[in-house]
Amino acid sequence: MAERVLILGASDRGKTYTIHQLAREAARTHKVALIDTDTGQSELGPPGTVSWAWVQAEGPQRGGTRFVGALSPAAAALELVVAVLEVVRQAEAAGANLLFIDTPGYVSGPGARRFLAALVQALAPSRILVLERDSELGSLPAMLAALSGAELTPLPVAEAVVRKSPSVRATRRLTRLARVLEGATEHELALEGLTTLGATLGTGTPIAPHLARWAGSALHLSAVYGEVAESTLSLFVAGPLRPGWESLVGPVLDHFQLGRVRALSLTALEGTCLGLHEETGRFLGIGRFLGIDPETLRLRLSTTASVERLALLAFGRFRLAADGQMLGELKPGEV
Ligand SMILES: Nc1ncnc2c1ncn2[C@@H]1O[C@H](COP(=O)(O)OP(=O)(O)OP(=O)(O)O)[C@@H](O)[C@H]1O
Ligand SMILES: [Mg+2]
Repeated sequence: MAERVLILGASDRGKTYTIHQLAREAARTHKVALIDTDTGQSELGPPGTVSWAWVQAEGPQRGGTRFVGALSPAAAALELVVAVLEVVRQAEAAGANLLFIDTPGYVSGPGARRFLAALVQALAPSRILVLERDSELGSLPAMLAALSGAELTPLPVAEAVVRKSPSVRATRRLTRLARVLEGATEHELALEGLTTLGATLGTGTPIAPHLARWAGSALHLSAVYGEVAESTLSLFVAGPLRPGWESLVGPVLDHFQLGRVRALSLTALEGTCLGLHEETGRFLGIGRFLGIDPETLRLRLSTTASVERLALLAFGRFRLAADGQMLGELKPGEV
């Protein structure tokens, strides 16, 4: 196992700057990999992902990426910790013997304590670099050290550190997203045989198209496609959901002998960020969910990645316009 050094600190304390600098110095004598766990302000891979990179004089050289699908650690702490472990495994398998792990500035509140406790237990760093002003992190570093056996190295916050305003952060993210979506092309995929993750779509058994249309008309919704799982019918609807459809579910429940009907608007899901993976789980790239073609019942998406080997489609928790603009976040139940 490579030696692992993790940097801890609130937002805008110079974590990324400092860890890049230390990694470059160490790269003179070690095989150094940087691990970027900040999905919201990712430096190495697209937003919503974690990545590792070789550190070289001419800049980082990306080694591998794992999809998380959320921008804030609070929204997907478990997925994030597991993704970090996976990229660490990749970096070590590639021969890295010293890892520098950059973290997001998520340090306040019980959710952050739980996330960081899980992260350090999973990673077992030998050292935690603590960038803080006036002991602002309180008991957090000591708790993490006690959990992982790491040594703590306090570092001062440089005078030169500047705060990134929300608009600066949003602009940086947009630039990165625009870059990964630029030149994306549209693809249609058969729903059958496609494995999905993080979404209702693809988790049930499809019903016949004419039954989906019938159920839709009974609910005054234009249903395109339907699936049954765990005594719930999920109907995917073109356009927004008409208010009051819930009061009409009686005949549909009777016909299918089910306990519940859910309706999901394909319009509300348009632009959902997707993580494309091949059969081995290897990440191919990100994309955008465009909908389901009502004629062919094929899933439509756009991406710059090659879809030839696509086997697993992970749905993220945010929606993007074609130019990378953020359209909004999705709650787990909404996808
Ligand atoms: N020692 C330093 N000397 C000069 N500039 C610095 C130094 N440390 C950080 N900065 C600058 O301050 C800003 C914030 O630093 P940085 O992005 O590294 O902070 P961070 O703690 O990683 O923030 P985030 O919470 O967004 O991850 C950046 O523009 C960075 O270039
Ligand atoms: Mg940072």
